[in-house]
Amino acid sequence: MPESSDEPIRRETFRKPGRQECADWETQLNQTILATDIREGKRGTGLAAALFHHVLEVASREVDQVDLYVAVENERAWRFYQRFGFESYGVMPRALRVAGADHDALMMTRKFR
Ligand SMILES: CC(C)(COP(=O)(O)OP(=O)(O)OC[C@H]1O[C@@H](n2cnc3c(N)ncnc32)[C@H](O)[C@@H]1OP(=O)(O)O)[C@@H](O)C(=O)NCCC(=O)NCCS
Repeated sequence: MPESSDEPIRRETFRKPGRQECADWETQLNQTILATDIREGKRGTGLAAALFHHVLEVASREVDQVDLYVAVENERAWRFYQRFGFESYGVMPRALRVAGADHDALMMTRKFR
């Protein structure tokens, strides 16, 4: 994905737990962590939803489920994920460190089969 200040999607990565981020699905995986970051001015426009429809459609053909972590206090994000069928299965204390601050994370999963 080209780097550009006009690029609405700053980051969309797929990561195998414990491994470095990679740009493509590793098709042999049945679990994948997904992180999404839509540029501020493009949030609430439907772009994130369009992206997710596509990503989950592709994922459903490649993996059995998609897992993600999201900060408990990030209600906007977890409500968004819920809308796409992600269910919370617990909270991991201090799972995320953002700009030096630790956050508890809601662990969510979307099962396809
Ligand atoms: C998370 C993200 C991808 C969602 O995309 P979006 O375009 O903002 O999604 P929506 O506008 O559909 O909002 C999602 C939900 O939050 C609600 N919402 C909208 N604006 C909100 C606000 N300012 N505060 C709280 N909730 C808000 C919406 O009503 C919607 O809830 P609903 O489904 O019950 O109606 C986007 O906000 C983003 O990139 N955020 C910054 C990065 C981030 O936090 N990523 C998640 C890391 S795991």
